[in-house]
Amino acid sequence: MLKLSASLVALAALVPLVASQAAEWGQCGGIGWTGATTCVSGTTCVVSNPYYSQCLPGAASVSPAPPSSRPAGTSTAPASGATSTAKLHTLAKAAGKLYFGTATDNPELTDTAYTAILDDNTMFGQISPANSMKWDATEPEQGVFTFSGGDQIASLAKTNGMLLRGHNCVWYNQLPSWVSSGSFTAAQLTSVIQNHCSTLVSHYKGQVYAWDVVNEPFNDDGTWRTDVFFNVLGETYPQIALEAARAADPAAKLYINEYNIESAGAKATALLNLVKTLKAASVPLDGIGFQCHFIVGEFSGPALQTQLSTFTAQGVEAAITELDIRMTLPSTPALLAQQKTDYNSVITACMNVESCVGVTVWDWTDKYSWVPSTFSGQGAACPWDQNFVKKPAYDGIAAGFSA
Ligand code: XIL
Repeated sequence: MLKLSASLVALAALVPLVASQAAEWGQCGGIGWTGATTCVSGTTCVVSNPYYSQCLPGAASVSPAPPSSRPAGTSTAPASGATSTAKLHTLAKAAGKLYFGTATDNPELTDTAYTAILDDNTMFGQISPANSMKWDATEPEQGVFTFSGGDQIASLAKTNGMLLRGHNCVWYNQLPSWVSSGSFTAAQLTSVIQNHCSTLVSHYKGQVYAWDVVNEPFNDDGTWRTDVFFNVLGETYPQIALEAARAADPAAKLYINEYNIESAGAKATALLNLVKTLKAASVPLDGIGFQCHFIVGEFSGPALQTQLSTFTAQGVEAAITELDIRMTLPSTPALLAQQKTDYNSVITACMNVESCVGVTVWDWTDKYSWVPSTFSGQGAACPWDQNFVKKPAYDGIAAGFSA
């Protein structure tokens, strides 16, 4: 009994010492860091970049903090591990692709550590606005257009010499209620779509490489989404939007963008049939966007390659438009290693299909990923972690473009 108490006292005395040291793989320094700057025994504090130093490596494994004690999207496993110093857009170009790019969003642009990396046009040769060109942002009231957010992204692309993807004209989501809850005749809604797409695409005429004119038209079972557009206009609405976009900017590539078409299935078949129908009717359609919101270890690169080939055989180009590969948190070295393999598989699939023109990640850092707020308990989906440290995934991408 006495002996046990003595042990407990001894253990308690050790606790403050342990807590004042960063755990293996933990942060131990960097600009703005106020936590521990020494590492637990067996590990060394190594500078990854000015913003992040980490306790590396060490045999003893330290349990990560439970998810509830960490901010959403935080990765707890070793984030470093990327060794490539090559720049991804440079690699993509050398490999014959048009670009490697990223989504970005207006609120992030006040983060100067973020923009320092975003503005590197050897890293990113293309950007997509994550939100600010969507319908709710651009025509919140009927006939009232607001382009300030979109203009900020467009001018960033211009200043940095990056391609711009427009995202998007017609989508069931992020619609202002005057559209989603409006009651329209077919003629009225046709005119609403024409006016929206035409005004939006005209505004950015000459600045946009490709527009996602129609976003996510199908349910996973291959049926059409029953949104206001389909309910009022049936299968004709993509044609209305595509023709309005073509008239507004004849030089822009016009895309349909979709997810869960990256392997064979009802949804991919439905979209393929739509592509065939539109092409047969000479409706302007230049590309298919494969969003590629994946889960670590749960997709097949060869299946993606087959889909890219199948769609581009119809005379359209393809692009990977919203790539991220999420995991259930906390991240582990094994998950990050699988994520590296998975990123590499996506790049390899695009590399093996000539008409796959480029790859866009849906933001490059976990700090601004949409994943944690959308998929509960999941995150760490981007190639850089929340401290802007390159993850093993970065090497997977670099190797994919270099193969
Ligand atoms: C996401 C944005 O990243 C989030 O900030 C927003 O809250 C919801 O939309 N498919 C798409 C994108 O086509 O527009 C979505 O972007 C992610 C899924």
